Amino acid sequence: MYKIAVLISGGGTNLQAIIDNIENGKLNCSIEAVIADNPKATGIQRAASRSIDTYILNRKELGDTLSDEVLKILDKKVDLIVLAGFLSILNGKLLKRFKNRIINIHPSLIPSFCGNGMYGIKVHEAAIDYGVKVSGCTVHMVDEGTDTGPILFQKTVQVTSEDSAKDLQNRILFEEHLALSEAIKKFSEGKILVIDRKVIIEE
Ligand code: GRF
Repeated sequence: MYKIAVLISGGGTNLQAIIDNIENGKLNCSIEAVIADNPKATGIQRAASRSIDTYILNRKELGDTLSDEVLKILDKKVDLIVLAGFLSILNGKLLKRFKNRIINIHPSLIPSFCGNGMYGIKVHEAAIDYGVKVSGCTVHMVDEGTDTGPILFQKTVQVTSEDSAKDLQNRILFEEHLALSEAIKKFSEGKILVIDRKVIIEE
């Protein structure tokens, strides 16, 4: 069975989409652990209610050592680490041990509206303020940067002049739930090949 861990910081609707897709048979994998980087992450309940092992790390206390704690929990236990609304930046041995086996979902079309400080509603406010006609979400590999790793999937949505940032956030969130599970499925089927910045995905 293909084993994954999901890391969260917030409400966990992306985590919920993964749980739902495992339960409805679309995803053939198991969630071995859900790790939150703050005790206020309400998404933890989504995992606990399904008896999935949960861990709460306090990013304020751990700082740069948070990645080491994640590695202690996950080393040799999972095939893929999924960042699903996870705000801490990972570093050190964890990135080496899990090279090209950590993915993140970002709510814009990278390289637009991403990088330090670009998360949550701020991403959509920037897109609306800029006046883009198309936005969307990106699933990418995690490297030592912020939202800088090779891109796996992107899904687009139209942006209208009447849209609020919240309208756009909700429209993109729907696509995120599809894109993240699609990426996990391709990984579980061994259909992802990363060559430098390029990601080749078999049909
Ligand atoms: C999502 O928009 C995701 O793209 C971003 O954080 C948000 C978290 O959503 N990284 P949720 O916690 O999965 O509902």
